[in-house]
Amino acid sequence: MGKIIAIANQKGGVGKTTTAINLAASLAMLEKNVLLVDADPQANSSSGLGLEVGNIDCTIYDCLINGADPHDAIYTTDVPNLDIISSHVTLAGAERELFAINEGRELLMKKMLTPMKSEYDYILIDCSPSLGSITVNAITASDSVIIPVQCEYFALEGIAQLLNTIKLIKRKLNPDLQIEGFLLTMYDGRLKLANQIYNEVKRHFEDLVFKTVIQRNVKLSEAPSHGMAAVQYDADAKGARNYLALAKEILSKQKA
Ligand SMILES: Nc1ncnc2c1ncn2[C@@H]1O[C@H](COP(=O)(O)OP(=O)(O)OP(=O)(O)O)[C@@H](O)[C@H]1O
Ligand SMILES: [Mg+2]
Repeated sequence: MGKIIAIANQKGGVGKTTTAINLAASLAMLEKNVLLVDADPQANSSSGLGLEVGNIDCTIYDCLINGADPHDAIYTTDVPNLDIISSHVTLAGAERELFAINEGRELLMKKMLTPMKSEYDYILIDCSPSLGSITVNAITASDSVIIPVQCEYFALEGIAQLLNTIKLIKRKLNPDLQIEGFLLTMYDGRLKLANQIYNEVKRHFEDLVFKTVIQRNVKLSEAPSHGMAAVQYDADAKGARNYLALAKEILSKQKA
């Protein structure tokens, strides 16, 4: 049975999409069957893996709002074992449309993705920088959450609110929900600040912090403009190696 992991932090630009693309591609390279679900109207995961977002007929929006069969929304990528459900800018309007549904509006993504668990080893959901109803849907559908934390000023800003949302979802909608881990991103070991943030996150969240840290690496930011995961674009780049190490850490945790 597959595992669904949401990648969430309502703070913008912390590395959610970079993590979604490269962790998904790394797990796929380790021979897991992976589905990446782009749940952000910005559709960065979709375009970052080379999809022409404007030309896609069936997206997550159609599945959530129009009841389309999720199988019709699955597209293959150039990475073997990695499929994707694309997003579209229309998803921004779905927040409002979901509001009109009284009963079970938080459960739509769970209904959409649960049957997929028998078809994939991992389903990763790239969330938008918001705690709106699409993100609540994503976390409700998930077995666990990865929280990327950028090694920058105000890194922990908003984390209390995110943890509170996770706690509420766990209490009301998804009792088995776990935190997969806090992931430090864009780490530059030469900077005192990066080390301070690392220590602060470790002090707060202890064993919930991934041992793997994602370093700041230009290949990670270049790869999406070529429509590729960094692990395809330059597998030797330190950022690509970091994501492969993260995939291995997650696999070994699941075995333990
Ligand atoms: N480890 C890294 N090294 C260098 N650049 C990075 C790294 N991680 C992410 N970036 C760059 O930082 C920017 C923000 O990253 P990303 O898009 O992954 O964040 P996000 O949390 O998904 O943003 P949003 O909240 O808008 O969805 C991007 O330009 C990305 O290429
Ligand atoms: Mg993003």
